[in-house]
Amino acid sequence: MAKYSIPYGRQTIDDDDINAVIETLKSDFMTQGPKISEFERAVADFHNSRYAIAFSNGTSALHGCYHACGIKPGEEFITSPITFAASANAGLYVGATPKFVDINSSNYCIDISSLEKSITDRTRVITPVSFAGYPVNIKEIRNIIGDRKITIIHDAAHAIGSLRDNAHVSELADMTVLSFHPVKHVATGEGGMVLTDSEDLRDKLSRFRTHGITKDPAHLSKNDGLWYYEMVELGFNYRITDLQCALGITQLKKLKKSLFRRNQIAYFYNKELSNISWLDIPDYDFDPSWVRDVSFENLNSFPANLHSYHLYPIKLKTPELRLKLYDHLRDNGIFSQVHYIPLHLMPYYRNNFSFKDGDFPTAEDFYSKELSLPMFPDLNDDQLEYIVDTIKDFR
Ligand SMILES: Cc1ncc(COP(=O)(O)O)c(C=O)c1O
Repeated sequence: MAKYSIPYGRQTIDDDDINAVIETLKSDFMTQGPKISEFERAVADFHNSRYAIAFSNGTSALHGCYHACGIKPGEEFITSPITFAASANAGLYVGATPKFVDINSSNYCIDISSLEKSITDRTRVITPVSFAGYPVNIKEIRNIIGDRKITIIHDAAHAIGSLRDNAHVSELADMTVLSFHPVKHVATGEGGMVLTDSEDLRDKLSRFRTHGITKDPAHLSKNDGLWYYEMVELGFNYRITDLQCALGITQLKKLKKSLFRRNQIAYFYNKELSNISWLDIPDYDFDPSWVRDVSFENLNSFPANLHSYHLYPIKLKTPELRLKLYDHLRDNGIFSQVHYIPLHLMPYYRNNFSFKDGDFPTAEDFYSKELSLPMFPDLNDDQLEYIVDTIKDFR
């Protein structure tokens, strides 16, 4: 019997969260009440964003973005093959054609230096993914796009709260998508959000999540009274609930603490695992060692470049070692994960878009050796010691 049972990610729920949900259950609203706009405002303010539109999950939020930017069937979007299926699937929902660009071997996000040669006159969207919580360099992507009419949908499902040159994930993208799935920093069960500064995109996203219906007098062809609404386009029921947003509001209050603890854990892993010859710790240009000399209570501000460490990805020297370490950890109650199986190699993408082995070698190599170690704020120091000791015992 192992000493612990440790998942790779886990939500943190305290009494404030529980009480907030109970209060909402006792209120008049379960679905479309005041908690939704309160949560939207709180997340928008956190990110210096003008608007936030909550969705039922990150995937529906992405679908909303591909719809709102007006990409048409036959037009192309570009994303990274190392991501969850949703980043690209949502583009397929609107009939667009997926293109992938290989990843950068240091930060595992889209390789920005290879982007230009993949842009064609049919490219309408680029969806960079801030993999593991490392904020992808949107400014560089914007510079490459130049005057071309290409929308940036930043998939920041892993990267809420991260910073690059003091800028939040939403600050340079047209639309930025967050997910509130339980392994993420802010958990609402299911839940997602789009951040944008554009009023036009805000209106389109709001309609899309509610069947394409509007009550806004400015968009009605006539007005029969206060009850009157019109369905002006085809939309979906992609609404989040008040219950989830009540939870989101209290969860958001813990985000800074979560970011701090996640950086502490990354610093500990870096220190303990850096001298093991058969594995590589991540090679990020953002260094978590700033946590060494400060406590959360005494923290005035985060560094200008902040990784949000949704995941801590290590690379084994060979695929065989990865499989063996995964099994060894599992046998000892430590449930690591692999992020991600490259999307272009999924049977659906191979069969429908003719992708094949070897198309994106850096992504394929990464997948063959990657392992995500447990990373969540409630991991205590004893458990962390146990994880690194179990790794060190492996060979
Ligand atoms: C990178 C990325 N994008 C999008 C999503 C979709 O979010 P959701 O699960 O909330 O639909 C996820 C979820 O895991 C994700 O990891």
